[in-house]
Amino acid sequence: MSKSRPERKEPLYYGEYLQLSKLLEAQGLESTKVGATAHDEMLFIIVHQAFELWFKLILWELDALKRLFEKGVVAEKELGRGVAHLERIIEIQRLFSTQIDIMETMTPLDFLDFRDTLFPASGFQSAQWRLIENSMGMRPKDRFGYEKTRYSSRLNDADRTRVEAAELSPSLFDLVEAWLERTPFIRMGDYDFWSEYGLAVDEMMGRDRQVIDTNPLLTMSEKEEQVQNLQKTKKHFAALFDEVSYQKLQTEGVSRLSHRALKAALLIHLYRDEPILYTPFRFLKALVDIDENFSAWRYRHALMAERMIGTKIGTGGSSGHEYLRKAAEHNKVFSDLTNLSTFFIPRSDLPVLSEEIKRQMGFRFTSD
Ligand code: HEM
Repeated sequence: MSKSRPERKEPLYYGEYLQLSKLLEAQGLESTKVGATAHDEMLFIIVHQAFELWFKLILWELDALKRLFEKGVVAEKELGRGVAHLERIIEIQRLFSTQIDIMETMTPLDFLDFRDTLFPASGFQSAQWRLIENSMGMRPKDRFGYEKTRYSSRLNDADRTRVEAAELSPSLFDLVEAWLERTPFIRMGDYDFWSEYGLAVDEMMGRDRQVIDTNPLLTMSEKEEQVQNLQKTKKHFAALFDEVSYQKLQTEGVSRLSHRALKAALLIHLYRDEPILYTPFRFLKALVDIDENFSAWRYRHALMAERMIGTKIGTGGSSGHEYLRKAAEHNKVFSDLTNLSTFFIPRSDLPVLSEEIKRQMGFRFTSD
């Protein structure tokens, strides 16, 4: 029996559905209030409002995505849905740079016509931006400048309560880490994948060393420098095979993901051509894209601020462009996934999986 569809009594009107009377009356120019309307303030408000609407949609997608992962087991088709949520966020992020292009049709002099009326309001106080950061998994200690003033101190009480509550609930990072830790295939029955992989790494490093030693174009000091770099990479690899060294990297803040989760992420990347690992691979790749796009937006926003205000302080009281540039460099969530390429070895060197493991990695039909 089909469900009866709820019927609307009155015909729906476009403007009411979209609440346009509220939306289009929400542009109150501060410059007009002080009696000197600045033409470009309308642009300034609308671009900010457009960003806030897109932030709202990003949070909507993140919430839906997190609900998929909160259940504990993530079925194959749900992971596909997860990728779709991330891909939508990526498309939204593509708009950000164009919106900044529109903002930059305003010149610094035009901005000065109304800038002083804005103090101390600033994007610093964008609660939705902080919610996105917290929902993704940015911890207070990951933020640039957190030691001086807490990032949430500029928010009003209601916003601060919401934003700080979001610090405490499981973030996308936490949920992805737990999902990676549950990934099968980290142990592959009797097959000792990690020692096979270790041998392949040694071989690759040996070849790299030979290339340095036999390169006639390098001076002695250049060779020494390259050998030192190779040693650093070796140290990083060693942490992959030894939990204690890995924990040291975590304590130093070099790595954040758990050892088990990192190994699972690496396996997914290395064997992504196996059907069962392809969607997990797309999922991890999308997370890196999103982190990178947010960094790109932060940089672009810092450049815009530099162009608009030079070395002046921001309306929110920060050092302005300088603060934004450093925050862009610093404020990242999924760096472990970005830096995973440190551990990649050429496809031709990868340990060959046994037929049994390949069979297990093939697509299986599920009952639901
Ligand atoms: C003329 C255009 C703009 C200028 C000059 C500007 C400048 C600044 C400055 C200097 C800061 C640092 C905090 C402060 O001291 O105020 C800041 C923070 C921020 N702005 Fe803008 N901004 C502009 C446009 C925008 C737009 C269109 C958005 C979109 C929502 C935005 C979002 C943010 C956010 C989210 C922060 C906090 C960044 C963080 O702390 O990591 N800004 N802005």
